[in-house]
Amino acid sequence: MHSSSCARASIKAGATTKPSDGTATSKETSQGRKSPGSPLTTESAVSTVPTMVRGDWVLFHPVYSPAELKAVEVLHQEPKTVADKAAKALVIISRKLFDVFSLYKAKPLPPNYKELSVQYLRDNGYILDEKGWLRRILFLETIAGVPGMVAATIRHLQSLRLMRRDNGWYGLNQRLRGMVGVLNACFHRIHTCLEEAENERMHLMTFMTLRRPSLPFRAIILAAQGVFYNLFFLSYIISPKTCHRFVGYLEEEAVYTYTKCINELEAGLIPEWTSKPAPEISIDYWRLSPDAKMLDLLYAVRSDETTHRFVNHSLANLNPETDVNPFALREPDMHTKGKKISFERDEAEAYVKNSHDLIEKK
Ligand SMILES: [Fe+2]
Ligand SMILES: [Fe+2]
Repeated sequence: MHSSSCARASIKAGATTKPSDGTATSKETSQGRKSPGSPLTTESAVSTVPTMVRGDWVLFHPVYSPAELKAVEVLHQEPKTVADKAAKALVIISRKLFDVFSLYKAKPLPPNYKELSVQYLRDNGYILDEKGWLRRILFLETIAGVPGMVAATIRHLQSLRLMRRDNGWYGLNQRLRGMVGVLNACFHRIHTCLEEAENERMHLMTFMTLRRPSLPFRAIILAAQGVFYNLFFLSYIISPKTCHRFVGYLEEEAVYTYTKCINELEAGLIPEWTSKPAPEISIDYWRLSPDAKMLDLLYAVRSDETTHRFVNHSLANLNPETDVNPFALREPDMHTKGKKISFERDEAEAYVKNSHDLIEKK
């Protein structure tokens, strides 16, 4: 039902085993033994997945058409409430801290940058080198994968605790409620959150194949995750709406960052990546062409971040106690998500109604 094509291939008979996620890059197993070539110990996710079941080891995620990949715009949601303003301020502070940590000076390119060498621009803090970009992206993605899993966990626990379906986001109004009843099982928000969490983790797994983080970097990630997970967990219990707004603003930053990376790559300012092939794991995950390059990967990742931006800002516009998840049955394509920051509540209502009409026509 999703308007972008689904990345889930049909499951073939006997294809029930799930491979690892491709984090290991050495030839040794976790026990330190050399891999004997057994499917149990082969280290690469891609190499363990037979061609016929490619993509079945992941949750739903959109695969974008070439036109959709280019349809993304850097947009900003104006804060409306005090909570929105607090969420935005928190993201700005986090961004500043992140810039310091990743040694990013955020200096705008000088007007005559085309006459200057890449090395000069790097030495003077105008652009990052390949390592700088990867450091920045890897840190971003280790954090970005947390909120979706926290939100899904909380809603999952609530469902268990209250012994009922993930009942939030149920029934925009009484008229719709009748229709929703038939499809209620599909309206859970847990799945949308889980899909986002896995999607972010796949970004991390992909970029991990390009750089092995140092021990100090891993220590910082460990500390950051410990703090962020617990803070976000508590915050989500108090105000899921504000948390989705916070993630929406975080995703705005992600779209901005990847757009900048794409622009610099297209301008020849990251020469190491100009003809570098996209990692094999990304060709599988995003259904890229076999000869895809880093640029294709960056476009796909930016589109994912645009989806997160749109979904989280839209959810933040709804009432978590009463409203359904409008994206449980389908998602707008990138021509909408890329050019519109979110659905307001009435637009979400119209979208759900339209989804139901489409189903009833079938
Ligand atoms: Fe991401
Ligand atoms: Fe994201």
